[in-house]
Amino acid sequence: MIDKSAQIDKNPEGFREIEITVFRYNPQDKEDTPEYQTYRLVETPGMTLYIALIKIWSTMDHHLSFDFVCRAGICGSCSMVVNGKPRLACKTRTNEFEDGKITLLPLPTFKHIKDLSVDTGNWMNEMSVKVESWIHSKEETDIAVLEKRVEPDVAQAVFDLDRCIECGICLASCSTKIMREDFVGAVGLNRSARFAMDPHDERTDEEFYELIGDDNGVFGCMSLMGCEDHCPKDLPLQTKIAYMRRKMVSLK
Ligand code: SF4
Ligand code: FES
Repeated sequence: MIDKSAQIDKNPEGFREIEITVFRYNPQDKEDTPEYQTYRLVETPGMTLYIALIKIWSTMDHHLSFDFVCRAGICGSCSMVVNGKPRLACKTRTNEFEDGKITLLPLPTFKHIKDLSVDTGNWMNEMSVKVESWIHSKEETDIAVLEKRVEPDVAQAVFDLDRCIECGICLASCSTKIMREDFVGAVGLNRSARFAMDPHDERTDEEFYELIGDDNGVFGCMSLMGCEDHCPKDLPLQTKIAYMRRKMVSLK
């Protein structure tokens, strides 16, 4: 472990000092080799990993790469592995770690860009195309006519699944995804369930089977629950995977 830029900043209030160890590697640079780098900083009240990383970046190391957009658990871009568990860095407080020692790694299973930055966007886009993640309807849209009424409990159930922020944490927690490159994961199966439940979508169970009725889809899941245990939006992923699986196995 290399500690080449460790630094303790001023600590007038007597707050504790924490130690953040970060995986550093740039796969685009042929000369670079993976290493850990440790930074020491003063923990301020309410500090999240987002705040800590921005502090490191702005006061110690301008070359450190990581992703953030919303800082509010909405965009899904700050996922990383925090002391062995995939989490959203902007929703993780440093004071959760009693010994003040935090190790950060990039999310596995996605293309590594640099340090803590990975490319989830292209993977999510490909998955969306694979599961045909859009309303399929032959009905012509007439904006002069009121939309069909949807029962509130159905609308609520669909909305609940729409809360996915595409953070990739369910994939990083999934053993099937590690073994099966093309597995669409809980995020993809959740997307299928969202459209299967939506009365606007006219697809039949057979049509969904064509998209997810194999080991890269609904039959690949081993029900190890890692996705649901770690999903930061608490989506009912296993229930919805089971919902789709029941539909698929009932087909002749
Ligand atoms: S299902 Fe949950 S863990 Fe998976 S991408 Fe969506 S929000 Fe993230
Ligand atoms: S920065 Fe958007 S979810 Fe963390």
